[in-house]
Amino acid sequence: MIPLRFFRFIAGSVAANPIKTNFKSEIKELNIDRKDFGHDFHWGVATASYQIEGAWNTDGKGESIWDRFTVNPKNVKDRTNGQVATDFYNRYESDLVLLKDLNFENFRFSFSWPRILPDGTGKVNEKGIGFYNRMIDKCLELGIEPWAMLYHWDLPQKLEELGGWTNRDIIGWFSEYADLCTRRFGDRIQHWMVLNEPASFTTLGYLSGMHAPQKGGIAKFLAAVHHASLCQAEGGRIIRENVKESHIGTTFSCAYTEPQKRSGRYQRASERLDVMLNRLFIEPSLGMGYPYKELPFIRKIDQFIQPEDVENLKFDFDFIGIQNYFRITSRPSLIPLIWANRVKPSANAEVTAMGWEVSPEGIYDIIMQFAKYGVKEIIVTENGAAFHDHLKKNGKIHDRQRIHFYQRYLQNVLRAKNDGAPVTGYFAWTFVDNFEWDEGIRPRFGLVYNDFKTQKRIIKDSGFWFQEMLK
Ligand code: NOJ
Repeated sequence: MIPLRFFRFIAGSVAANPIKTNFKSEIKELNIDRKDFGHDFHWGVATASYQIEGAWNTDGKGESIWDRFTVNPKNVKDRTNGQVATDFYNRYESDLVLLKDLNFENFRFSFSWPRILPDGTGKVNEKGIGFYNRMIDKCLELGIEPWAMLYHWDLPQKLEELGGWTNRDIIGWFSEYADLCTRRFGDRIQHWMVLNEPASFTTLGYLSGMHAPQKGGIAKFLAAVHHASLCQAEGGRIIRENVKESHIGTTFSCAYTEPQKRSGRYQRASERLDVMLNRLFIEPSLGMGYPYKELPFIRKIDQFIQPEDVENLKFDFDFIGIQNYFRITSRPSLIPLIWANRVKPSANAEVTAMGWEVSPEGIYDIIMQFAKYGVKEIIVTENGAAFHDHLKKNGKIHDRQRIHFYQRYLQNVLRAKNDGAPVTGYFAWTFVDNFEWDEGIRPRFGLVYNDFKTQKRIIKDSGFWFQEMLK
């Protein structure tokens, strides 16, 4: 297994060791006017099943790889787990009412595969289907558009026991699941996404082993990458087949990558990181194949490719979801395979509670980079920040730094749109503070504060800011 520390920076979901920042933010209020984005721009919040639902063993739900991972409290920094999370399973009605109160019109959620198919395939859990039916119907009743993600990392444990993403049979398992979801919910959901950040879950789950299912090694990683790429395209085809007038996307973690110095060595290191972070999953779907040139070890993926795969990797997505949190300054290093690393943010840089550098121009640059592929639509399907929120005695959370974060990132999203990138939507990560994977419940990314003891929701100032802006 490759040492964990080598991959801490790879994906947006990984915290570097949280750094105390001495940054004193010069907060100037910036005016963001939703009219500038156009009347048909999609404004929403994004969530994920394991991070919010809780009810981990209720009503026939099967075990997921994250249920298994968190059994060992040492796997999670603050020793918490998602067994209750934000209890969305029981509180979805009041949460959706709150979402509507904040003037959001779009809600991104994911289906929990083991809630629907406890063993991953075969017997359907009708109670799980019932939960999603009620939740979707509540969205529609409130005038909220549901945006469904098929896979946000909670693989059924039963399938992991058969090899999970490293087993080619996952194409069949995933197709069965995608077919079921689209048949049962496709009459009421138009917007669908296939995979959440495949570069994150393959790297963290099957290369570094930092996330569930804690597997490691190049062969496992490359097998998982290839099978996820095939499922990404196959999922798109199944949605198109089963859902009338569908709007189909998939999402990518991404971070604009720049060399620390202009020399060739630094440039090449930056290109290698760019492959790992930004290019590995989109290029095969566009028919460009895997990007071997800059990163030769990727060529070993050939051993998993069958002749018909070359065609099957392609899918013509209606939109590409980009999920951006920070930018990377890169340098050559001794990290095996990639031979590159990120340069740590300087001591006076503005960083979030995750240690991620706040770099609003980075979202502009990465949108423009994706726009060059000529994709039809780009939607920012995640962007946001964890900060150290303080609940005041008067029951308020004055998270001005988060407001300022959103204002600056949104300015840059608008700049990219005005410069010709086909940006059609923006989803904040996230609605209510939730379970942040191996980091636990400590990092608070929400527009709404959650008291995890009582499940009381308290709107932060950033939530009120969105409410006002979206009015
Ligand atoms: C990426 C993931 O999709 C999401 O699950 C995670 O919580 C956020 N980024 C923040 O790290």
